Amino acid sequence: MHDQYAVIGNPIGHTKSPLIHGMFAEATGQDLVYAAIEGRLGQFAEDAQAFRAAGGRGMNVTAPFKLDAFAFATERSARASLAGAVNALKFDGERVLAENFDGVGLTRDVVDNLGCAMRGKRVLILGAGGATRGALLPFLEQGPAELVIANRTVDKATALAAELRAHGPVRGCGYHDLDGQRFDLVFNATSASLRGELPPVPATVFTAEGLAYELAYGKGLTPFLRMAQQTGVKRLADGVGMLVEQAAEAFDWWRGVRPDTAAVIARLTVPLR
Ligand code: ATR
Repeated sequence: MHDQYAVIGNPIGHTKSPLIHGMFAEATGQDLVYAAIEGRLGQFAEDAQAFRAAGGRGMNVTAPFKLDAFAFATERSARASLAGAVNALKFDGERVLAENFDGVGLTRDVVDNLGCAMRGKRVLILGAGGATRGALLPFLEQGPAELVIANRTVDKATALAAELRAHGPVRGCGYHDLDGQRFDLVFNATSASLRGELPPVPATVFTAEGLAYELAYGKGLTPFLRMAQQTGVKRLADGVGMLVEQAAEAFDWWRGVRPDTAAVIARLTVPLR
């Protein structure tokens, strides 16, 4: 029988993960099948256990189960522990190993695919939820001059920064505190774009030669990206590269083979307009 993998979420109809992992498997000659499972709310452990009992080797985990997966794991990587959330599980006998590749995938997309080094740069991330949590440690590992977290609920940003302070120059603030400040790289990790909303970020934070990155994918030119474009930012990106890169990290973790990502990103990219 083929080795079995799956992504679990609710809803799950929109997922691109089976397509991505299917392309990786074909390109690397790995014999596996990858399914999409609609997990039942409040019953993550039962559903994950059922997949495992039926021979599942690993899972990707998406909303709203990233915290349930954290609890379900028997061992968590440092990244997953710091993120407080899990996006990939590996079943190894009695062990359930947990990882979070979202932040590493994002960083790889920015640095390797988009060619925007973070070292010595001023980096701004909007939002202080799960998406930001996952990105902070991989970002700080790149050695930015400063990493600023801005959030509507200011306390969440400052608390998160305090947790990560030992790892590098990070601070939290509110949107008003951004007046008069400029950043080389600006990331929208809020959930605002999912509802077509714009976080209250001043247009003056962007630099023309910098990067504006929307973590959501497939939404085209979101209000955030449109604002960046209007202020003259030349490099705009959505989260398609992050999605494919985090998948490649999981594939490598499960199979010991690192797939090439460029063709898959090209296949999934929707023009920003
Ligand atoms: P995720 O796991 O996707 O990060 P989350 O943990 O619910 O989701 O976090 C959502 C983030 O988006 C939060 O930082 C939230 O700000 P608050 O903490 O102040 O609620 C932010 N957010 C959502 N809608 C927003 C909006 N319209 N403007 C600004 N920030 C928004």
